[in-house]
Amino acid sequence: MKTDRSDILTCLRNSEDYVSGQQLCDRLGVSRTAVWKVMKQLKEEGYRIESVPSRGYRLVESPADVYSESEIASRLHTKWAGRRLIYFDSTGSTNPDAKRFAEEGAPHGTTVVADRQTAGRGRRGRAWESPAGNSVYFTIVIRPAFVPDKASMITLVMALSVAEAIHGVTGLDTGIKWPNDIVVNGKKVVGILTEMSMTPEMNEIQFLVAGVGVNVNQESAEAFPEELRGTATSLKIESGRQIDRAALLARILEQFETDYGTFEQTLTLSALKERYESRLAGRDAAVRVLDPAGEYTGISRGITDTGELVVEKENGERVPVYAGEVSVRGLYGYI
Ligand code: BTN
Repeated sequence: MKTDRSDILTCLRNSEDYVSGQQLCDRLGVSRTAVWKVMKQLKEEGYRIESVPSRGYRLVESPADVYSESEIASRLHTKWAGRRLIYFDSTGSTNPDAKRFAEEGAPHGTTVVADRQTAGRGRRGRAWESPAGNSVYFTIVIRPAFVPDKASMITLVMALSVAEAIHGVTGLDTGIKWPNDIVVNGKKVVGILTEMSMTPEMNEIQFLVAGVGVNVNQESAEAFPEELRGTATSLKIESGRQIDRAALLARILEQFETDYGTFEQTLTLSALKERYESRLAGRDAAVRVLDPAGEYTGISRGITDTGELVVEKENGERVPVYAGEVSVRGLYGYI
């Protein structure tokens, strides 16, 4: 019933004209009764579906911000990203869920989505507050055919895809705080947590999971924990508009599928670098590099083909800064 629902909604959404009950039955191999039951259920949930006896069904309007497996699936036009979709109203954290599914053999692109997380995780062992109803939390399983030292670039690819997808859906000017926070007007709207699982011999990647949290429809700063109010924001606060989460997630997955494909061709960021740099927050501005071997100040100039930040020191020397080893702070504000 669940997949019938997704398939029927997808068919309705993708056809401009009426779709007859018979067409739906033939295309999806389901019975007339199954089609009728799904239509009834969708209408009860607030979908406006017109049915004209001689012509069939037509989706006129979806209820606002429905966030469900069918709603997301019906908007996806990808080959592999999110083709297998697992949706939870509530879970601990989508990252360990995705790892578990990957261990059980889930295919490349499998995506776990939750409306709420009770144990959301951030980087550096921090928590990621994940209440229901206003955010996007998802984790995608990636089964790469490359060596572990390329893996850190995936986070930058994801950051680029998410930043551009958000821009596409909301019109907001998204920036990337290297390597992978996304900011709007100097405040954070997205966090990404990538984790890697190695083969028992520890020489190959078994799979990666990239977890993304987007602050979407929080109404005001009060929606965030007190300590984040000065540095976090949401797409709604910045754009003044309610954003459809299913449409946004579908757009992110589509963009990521394309960008990952580009990355895979060279296993470098060479073909994505220009776009990434055009969104790099604090480019050509002063940064402080908190290197355990000695802190220094310089000017952020861009990234290398392999994703390091290029910092120009006071003596003019340009050095690559590796994510993970050091942290970089803008000299002015959060960025
Ligand atoms: C950060 O600290 O900036 C990273 C935050 C990552 C949050 C996302 S939400 C979906 C996925 N599940 C988690 O528990 N964390 C990631």
